[in-house]
Amino acid sequence: MGVEVRTESITKSFGSQRIWQDVSLTLPPGEVSALLGPSGTGKSVFLKSLIGLLRPERGSIYIDGTDITTCSNKELYEIRKLFGVLFQDGALFGSMNLYDNVAFPLREHTKKSESDIKKIVMEKLELTGLLGAEGKLPGEISGGMRKRAGLARALVLDPQIILVDEPDSGLDPVRTTYLSQLLIDINAQIDATILIVTHNINLARIVPDNIGMLFRRQLVMFGPREVLLTSEEPVVKQFLNGRMQGPIGMSEEKDEAQMAREQAMFDSGHSDGGAEEVEGIIPQMKAQPGMPVRQAVFRRRERVRQVLHTLPPAAQEAIRESLESNGDADTQVIPAYQGTYDTTVRQNLTNG
Ligand SMILES: Nc1ncnc2c1ncn2[C@@H]1O[C@H](COP(=O)(O)OP(=O)(O)OP(=O)(O)O)[C@@H](O)[C@H]1O
Ligand SMILES: [Mg+2]
Repeated sequence: MGVEVRTESITKSFGSQRIWQDVSLTLPPGEVSALLGPSGTGKSVFLKSLIGLLRPERGSIYIDGTDITTCSNKELYEIRKLFGVLFQDGALFGSMNLYDNVAFPLREHTKKSESDIKKIVMEKLELTGLLGAEGKLPGEISGGMRKRAGLARALVLDPQIILVDEPDSGLDPVRTTYLSQLLIDINAQIDATILIVTHNINLARIVPDNIGMLFRRQLVMFGPREVLLTSEEPVVKQFLNGRMQGPIGMSEEKDEAQMAREQAMFDSGHSDGGAEEVEGIIPQMKAQPGMPVRQAVFRRRERVRQVLHTLPPAAQEAIRESLESNGDADTQVIPAYQGTYDTTVRQNLTNG
């Protein structure tokens, strides 16, 4: 099973620029969590801090109980092997074809034979819909394919923690849904702890068990998905509905005066370009038929029951509803994915 990732009051600055401060959260082992936030709020910096590529100046980061901000380089090297990471830019080696890119961690970190490596690489390429493209160089394929190749590479060492930075960027809406399904299926198959950094509201609404959001150098919230999805917090509502009206501006946070002017415009009927507000919570995506039952569902159910009384009333209500209606949740499939999904998912990911 995946391991616990816990940050305790971490603060990160570059020179005099404070990126975020006092960020404390726990990624529950084996569950899928998402981190949202406007551009530039330090989501990628957070992700890089979790694997020790960047070092917060204050606070601790515990990976399976070891504080990676104080451990030795040797320990850090061992701990990194637990991770599979998809960086925002894919970070593929430009001069290596996809096969060699995906094989790289296996050649670097294991003593597996080339024939064993081939088995694993081809399996991950198939999983991500890249069979047939293994001879291509990163420069010869689409952005979406590069993302998926990065994901294939992140999976080859059977990681216990998977960090993915905007896996959906550069993917069309349909492939984003396939990718969402893939992440849920991977969680069902290997029970890894997963953190998805994303801007994608649709993905955030249906994939993660837990959601957090960074804004104004703080972690605004982090907890069971229902907490954020029912939140009345202005920044959360603005983000979830893609509106201009609210505290998030184009390049920076808005001041009070500007927010008041916009509110007046909005009240007088001027469209702010956002989507229709979604009422209620969309049910979470399930693993496809044929996949193992996602163990995280049961663990989360117990965990959430215990903290239920501490959550805001709207979140409590949403959780109670889902607990009641979800007796058969782990076998139930949302209608759009019924039927021939298993074979189509791979075909449709190909040619991306
Ligand atoms: N190595 C670095 N040195 C100095 N500043 C950095 C470094 N990495 C990131 N930053 C700064 O930290 C801030 C947060 O960057 P980050 O890439 O984490 O944002 P983000 O939330 O991932 O944004 P996006 O959604 O656009 O990917 C930015 O102002 C960025 O310029
Ligand atoms: Mg980023």
